[in-house]
Amino acid sequence: MQDLPFSARLLTWWDKHGRKDLPWQHPRTAYRVWLAEIMLQQTQVTTVSPYFKRFVKRFPDIQTLAAASTDEVLALWSGLGYYARARNLHKAAGICVADFNGLVPEFPEALAMLPGIGQSTANAIFSQAYGQPAVVLDGNVKRVLSRRGAVAGWPGKASVHKKLWGIAEDVLPTQRAADYTQAIMDLGATLCTRSNPACNDCPVNRDCQAHLHNRVKDFPAPRPKIKIAEKSFHMLILRDGDGRILLERRPPSGIWGGLWSLPADDNGQSLNQCLDGHAGVDAADLNPLPSLQHQLTHMRMTILPLYGEVTSPPKGVKCSAEQGWFGHEEWPALGLPKPVRQLLEQHTRMVSND
Ligand code: ADE
Repeated sequence: MQDLPFSARLLTWWDKHGRKDLPWQHPRTAYRVWLAEIMLQQTQVTTVSPYFKRFVKRFPDIQTLAAASTDEVLALWSGLGYYARARNLHKAAGICVADFNGLVPEFPEALAMLPGIGQSTANAIFSQAYGQPAVVLDGNVKRVLSRRGAVAGWPGKASVHKKLWGIAEDVLPTQRAADYTQAIMDLGATLCTRSNPACNDCPVNRDCQAHLHNRVKDFPAPRPKIKIAEKSFHMLILRDGDGRILLERRPPSGIWGGLWSLPADDNGQSLNQCLDGHAGVDAADLNPLPSLQHQLTHMRMTILPLYGEVTSPPKGVKCSAEQGWFGHEEWPALGLPKPVRQLLEQHTRMVSND
């Protein structure tokens, strides 16, 4: 075992300890692998699995996905975050139907031209869906290989990425492409973890430069500190006489682009501008509710919810083109950002306790 190449030792380990019951592996169709790889960008397997199952139940193939409304796609993505992934996936499904006969393209070059698919994701799909060897370099693999080669520098930097890509090519086997892709990701996710690596159990520790020099914690170098912006804004929970809540669609770009949300004054407009047109509501009629913290990659937000009841039937409202009053039973069908869902759930509990 010790003299076998890196990939052979890894595959032998994976045969015994790897993950073989992931939902997208049974059946491992190109569509399911593609969907899984998009969901797994920046998101862990345990979070993705229930979303994946719900998604393929509603959209079992590319045609069904392409024919759906963006709203419905976003609704099933709601809570998974990074919503551009869902919008791109939906767009890409349309392209597959229009240009690829409703099939997932069979070449990584064509896959990488679809919206939301970079080279590593294209290769991850290609290797798992079509069983062809291809370099994959997601976060887990970068950690494994930067330790193996004691590669200095943050892997997000182009020169470091290039070096790691070269190592990944050097160790890539020609056989068992799909299993190898899963194996190297599994090693990163289960043994070669960021903060508590289990080097003694690792099948490839004997040529890991970081391990041999007792410097595992030094690799990969962390991302240079990014400045996290702080933002604080109001969200309006306006309730009409039938218990419906006013929701509006966010502009297509920016935070939560295209998702439905509670009206918010986060885009430079004043609270009064936001209220303008909501029949019978005045800033003085609103009651503050406990604030809510929400963190995105580059932003820490404090949401200050304000609650108001609208007694007169709401007339034309403005603020944005797409608005509506939605009852409790309609919320699940909308793509709602996580804190909005939390506020609505909290509101429902509050009302039902009255
Ligand atoms: N992250 C990205 N792709 C993955 C996969 N196929 N299995 C586990 N984690 C992943």
